[in-house]
Amino acid sequence: VVDIRTLHAKSGMFTYDPGYISTASSSSEITFIDGDEGILLYRGYPIEQLAAQCDFIDVCYLLMNGELPTSEQKTSFDNTIKNHSMLHEQLVKFYTGFRRDAHPMALMVGVVGALSAFYHEAMDITNAAHREQSAFRLIAKLPTIAAMAYKYNIGQPFIYPRNNLSYAENFLHMMFAVPTEEYKLNPVLVRALDRILILHADHEQNASTSTVRLAGSSGANPYACISAGIACLWGPAHGGANEACLNMLEEIGDVSRIDEYIQRAKNKDDPYRLMGFGHRVYKNFDPRAKLMRETCHEVLNELGLQNDRLFKLALQLEKIALEDEYFISRKLYPNVDFYSGIVQRALGIPTFMFTAIFAMARTVGWVAQWSEMISDPNHRIGRPRQLYTGITMRNIPSAALRK
Ligand code: ACO
Repeated sequence: VVDIRTLHAKSGMFTYDPGYISTASSSSEITFIDGDEGILLYRGYPIEQLAAQCDFIDVCYLLMNGELPTSEQKTSFDNTIKNHSMLHEQLVKFYTGFRRDAHPMALMVGVVGALSAFYHEAMDITNAAHREQSAFRLIAKLPTIAAMAYKYNIGQPFIYPRNNLSYAENFLHMMFAVPTEEYKLNPVLVRALDRILILHADHEQNASTSTVRLAGSSGANPYACISAGIACLWGPAHGGANEACLNMLEEIGDVSRIDEYIQRAKNKDDPYRLMGFGHRVYKNFDPRAKLMRETCHEVLNELGLQNDRLFKLALQLEKIALEDEYFISRKLYPNVDFYSGIVQRALGIPTFMFTAIFAMARTVGWVAQWSEMISDPNHRIGRPRQLYTGITMRNIPSAALRK
């Protein structure tokens, strides 16, 4: 009997690293994270400066092209995105095939994947111009796709995008306008949404980006790859955490119950975790969480909600957890999802749409990473190995023995 586990030795060494704790799956020039110092850079620029001085369109251009746009480049890029924001009318009909109570992420996985059926030139991923065209389409259409998922869910007519509005304005318009009434745009709320988009735009090789890269490594078309990324993002340990975090705050309900939930999260016999806490890479404050907390203050002040119950609860929960030995020793800090749900709730966005907005923001990161991989002449199909732990090679017993 040959122990086939030893066969690996013949084909060279490989590492066994469940969850890729210390294995780089790719090299990339796009985003840098220093998890110990709490630093996040897009193409070398600190996230704090981008959030303060740029808008989401600047950041999209930066992630895709490596440099911030000149004003001329920005106008041209912005116009291109606007020109691609509509959905094909046949694709709009696609929505009615879903149950009304379907989660928006379920619709988005389907509708984004279905874009493959409309843009056949995208199948030719060797053509750089086609790749760029697909990237424009995806960045432009995701807000329309997400807002239509919302309108479908609540039973209102779809609101089409407008070319005189910015990216963030357009999304709020498509979400909240109704045919009989304009949505009144508030610049503070628009800025808050734009900031959410900037903070979620890319985050190097997280689970959904790695999924996009792995799917794309086989030569799959970009719409199918982004659809795979959306599916992965949906999980509560990843993009679904902002929704889970707000639900958790609602469930805690009152400052007096925080301790009960902290004790639950610390109990190793209970799988419960504090949502919005901890990160695979950040072992310090997630810089995005600090910016999101700042945005929370701005939005709640603007709306006269300084005493917002959930915000107060979140601040107190953060304070208690950061003084607790369990969280200190494991370096568990609030991540971006901890405060983003409170901001989105204040904008009037229902909880079930939070992850869809994350997907809309992350699309530019996914397409930039996919494009970077495909343009690399040395890229290969991703094909992880495994550590086989099954039965070693054996012979099928005789019929008599099998009885
Ligand atoms: N609450 C309580 N304990 C936690 C938490 C938490 N939120 N997060 C991690 N821990 C504990 C683990 O139980 C483990 O403890 P142990 O060493 O005693 O066994 C230790 O901290 C390390 O945790 P791991 O699961 O090994 O960390 P990993 O890097 O695999 O997971 C993750 C990171 C998934 C983000 C995790 O912290 C988590 O589940 N957090 C809650 C969900 C969340 O907020 N996700 C959003 C991530 S950010 C994003 O996607 C935008």
